[in-house]
Amino acid sequence: MKFIAVHGGAGRRSDKSVRSKALDAVMKALDIGIETLKSGNALDAVIAAVVSMEDSPYLNAGIGSALNLIGEVEMDACVATEDSCGAVAGTTIARNPVLLAKRVMETDHLLIAGKGADMLAESYGMSVDSNEFFITERNRKRRKEAVKVLLGETEGIPEEKIKKRNEYIDRVYPKLRELIRHYSQYISFSDTVGAVAFDGEHLAAATSTGGVFLKLPGRVGDSPIFGAGTYVGNGIAISCSGIGEQIMKTTLAKNIANLYAFGLPIELAVKSAMLMASKEFENPSMGAIAVSHEGITIYHTSEAFVAGYAKLKGSEIVERKVSDVWR
Ligand code: GLY
Repeated sequence: MKFIAVHGGAGRRSDKSVRSKALDAVMKALDIGIETLKSGNALDAVIAAVVSMEDSPYLNAGIGSALNLIGEVEMDACVATEDSCGAVAGTTIARNPVLLAKRVMETDHLLIAGKGADMLAESYGMSVDSNEFFITERNRKRRKEAVKVLLGETEGIPEEKIKKRNEYIDRVYPKLRELIRHYSQYISFSDTVGAVAFDGEHLAAATSTGGVFLKLPGRVGDSPIFGAGTYVGNGIAISCSGIGEQIMKTTLAKNIANLYAFGLPIELAVKSAMLMASKEFENPSMGAIAVSHEGITIYHTSEAFVAGYAKLKGSEIVERKVSDVWR
C-alpha cells in the first residue's frame, strides 16, 4: 500500500467562499500528490503537493502567505525523509520555499534563515523580484483592518513613530493568545500547508507556511523546526499546523513519533500527543497529519483542519477523502 495525506491548515472556519476555495486547493494538491506517488517516491509526492498549495492564493504559504506586523511576507518551509532534512526560515523571495528547503537538504546544513535563505534562492534562480509577489489584495486588506482595530484610529505624531510602534508591539503581539481571543475574526482559516507520504518503502514529510498573521518580523514558527512542525523518524512522517509557539513549546511532531516508537498505534500516538500538548494552552489550536506503513491519521484541536488523504494499491486509489473537520 501507498499513503498520502495533505493539509491546508489548522485554524478557524472561514466564510463559505474562502472555505470552499481552500478545500478545492487541498483537493488539487492531493490529486497532484497521488499522481506523483503512483510512479514516483514519497519525497517527490509531498513536494509536488506542497508546491501546488504554495501556488494557491487561498492558503497560507507561498502566494497568499499571511502578512507580518509590517505588511511583509516571511516564509518558512521544511522537507524531510528518514535520512535527511532541509529547511528555510524567513525567506522573503523564494518563489517556492519548499523547493528551496529541498536544496538545503542537499547541503551540509539543516536550516538556513533570513538573508542566507534569500541569497540561496537567488543563487539557484529560485527567487522572485519582489516580496509583493506573495501579497494578495485580500491579505493586504485584512492586515490594514486588523491594524486599525488593534491600534484604534490614533493619529501618529511623526517623532513618536518608534514609541508608537513599540506600544503597538507591547499591546498586541507578545500576547498571541490574547490576540486570538479578542481578534479571532482576523485569524486565518488556513494556517500552513503540508504533506506526508509513504511510497511502500520510504516516508517523507513537507511543510510550508507564511506563519502567523501579524507576527513580528523575524519570527520563526514550528514548520521549519525538525521535531516541532515537521518530523520523519521512528517509522512515521508528520506535518503539523496551528499556532507555531504552541507546537514548538510542546515539540509536537517528535512527541507523536516517540509515542509511535513506544508502540502506540498511529492514530493513538497522534491523538495522545496532541491532547497532551493542547492541555497546556487555554486556546489550543493544532493539527497534524501522519503516515506510517500502518496507515494515515489526521487529527486537530483547532476548530477546523482542511486536509485530505488517499490510499493506493499500486496505482489504484482505494480510498480518498477531503474535509475541513476530522473529529
Ligand atoms: N504553524 C505555522 C506557524 O505558526 O508558523
